[in-house]
Amino acid sequence: MDKILVLDFGSQYTQLIGRRIRELGVYAQIAPGDAALKDAEIEGAKGIVFSGSPRSAYEEGAPRPHPSAYSAGLPILGICYGIQLMTLDSGGEVGRLGEREYGRKEVRVAGDDPLLAGLPRSFSSWMSHGDSISKPAPGFEVLASSEGGIPAALRDRSRGIWGLQFHPEVSHCEGGMKILENFAVGVCGARREWSMEAYLDEVAARVREKVGSGEALLLISGGVDSTVAGALLLKILPKDKVHLLYIDTGLMRAAESEEVMRNLRALGAKHLRMAHAEEEFLSALAGVEEPEAKRKIIGDLFIKIQQREVERLGIPEAFLAQGTLYTDLIESGKGVGNKAQVIKSHHNVRSPLVEAKRAAGRVIEPLDRLYKDEVRSLGRLLGVSEEVVRRHPFPGPGLGVRILGEVTKERCELLRAADAIYIAELKARGLYDKIWQAFSVLLPIRSVGVAGDERKYGSVLALRAVVSEDGMTADVYPFETKDILEISSAITNRIPGIGRVVYDISSKPPATIEWE
Ligand code: XMP
Repeated sequence: MDKILVLDFGSQYTQLIGRRIRELGVYAQIAPGDAALKDAEIEGAKGIVFSGSPRSAYEEGAPRPHPSAYSAGLPILGICYGIQLMTLDSGGEVGRLGEREYGRKEVRVAGDDPLLAGLPRSFSSWMSHGDSISKPAPGFEVLASSEGGIPAALRDRSRGIWGLQFHPEVSHCEGGMKILENFAVGVCGARREWSMEAYLDEVAARVREKVGSGEALLLISGGVDSTVAGALLLKILPKDKVHLLYIDTGLMRAAESEEVMRNLRALGAKHLRMAHAEEEFLSALAGVEEPEAKRKIIGDLFIKIQQREVERLGIPEAFLAQGTLYTDLIESGKGVGNKAQVIKSHHNVRSPLVEAKRAAGRVIEPLDRLYKDEVRSLGRLLGVSEEVVRRHPFPGPGLGVRILGEVTKERCELLRAADAIYIAELKARGLYDKIWQAFSVLLPIRSVGVAGDERKYGSVLALRAVVSEDGMTADVYPFETKDILEISSAITNRIPGIGRVVYDISSKPPATIEWE
């Protein structure tokens, strides 16, 4: 399959570049910026994008592309740091700006070029840089400049190199998709061969070859990813060879476990087992208030129960399937993206069970090349219900990190009931799909109120709603005042245990999406 290679130098936008190119129907693959390109990476590649970076191109130890990126002889598009690096390497100059260029900036196009074909002579770009090209390298012509006269688009004709100072992948960049299309399809000639149908065929062949006549076991977490992975296995393997195991921790959202089970049954699951572990989790969490301690207890217990339940199934030779996504590999600091940091530890990555299966070459990760929105498309293609496909992300430790202070059955039930109203209100108002993630947090404080003539001492509930591309950064969802006030009343009217509702107005950074 034709593809565009995106070399990662650590930019927060690297993943977005990959996603946008795939939205054009062209397969995009991320690879570490400074490592030698492997044969498998070069196979099918029609062009290369150098990502941005939080580093300065002239800094000691700044990540540099491996010579193999140039010797591949493919067209190159350097974005931000990417082009600054090539400018420095080719004898140009890069320096610190007096003032950072950040946000929407007008760009003026100077001449015709296939990269900018179809764009207006002046358009609004998205800038995010402290360093700039102060002198283009010999051989580079300036195709466009910013308001401040800084080179915004460049080209070295003789070497097939283009560069952009702005970020075409960011949705605020006018014509950004057109530029990426001009590069991937126009300049590189990559064919639009990427679709969920094509992926299904490819992954079916890959998984069938690996599993052969063996069996597969999938650990279902209740989220979109593992449910879609389950639907996929049920589609591509004989249904009686697919074992699905779900551990109900008691820390799930209202009606979540039932919905997931119902879906998998409807998709033809023959071996579907739900292990009820609510009591075990609650007793392990009794009296524990510290967030990291709670996370550790939940994570360790999950692994222990997983091990025990898998042994009970009596299929030691089964291949272990996981709903790992492309971005999960990056967030766990494994796989791609040499500068990626460990952002959060996933149960599935740390588990000794998984490690043992991996060592034996018996792990299958059928979604490992997909982004979240692609998983949703694949889920639809496979017949997973809209309810599950559109469900907002949910953290592994579940309500354990949304109940601040001690986690008890009563507090789980209180939070579940209040959150169900919040989510139902969002859906009824047509807001649910505009929000990346919305949820309620039960605070460890109570406050005074009145109900009728009575003094009431109820719990405080915080509502969270954020918009985000991938959970790495997030903005607060700007509710209409009427909506948020009515949602608050709906909750306090119907849930006597909640005396007060507050709305969390913190973006990420500096806050995180979850409270713990
Ligand atoms: P934070 O709170 O770090 O969350 O801004 C970013 C995204 O990750 C989810 N999250 C987790 N997901 N295991 C997971 O699988 C975890 O331990 C975990 N902690 C946070 C969070 O819901 C948000 O979507």
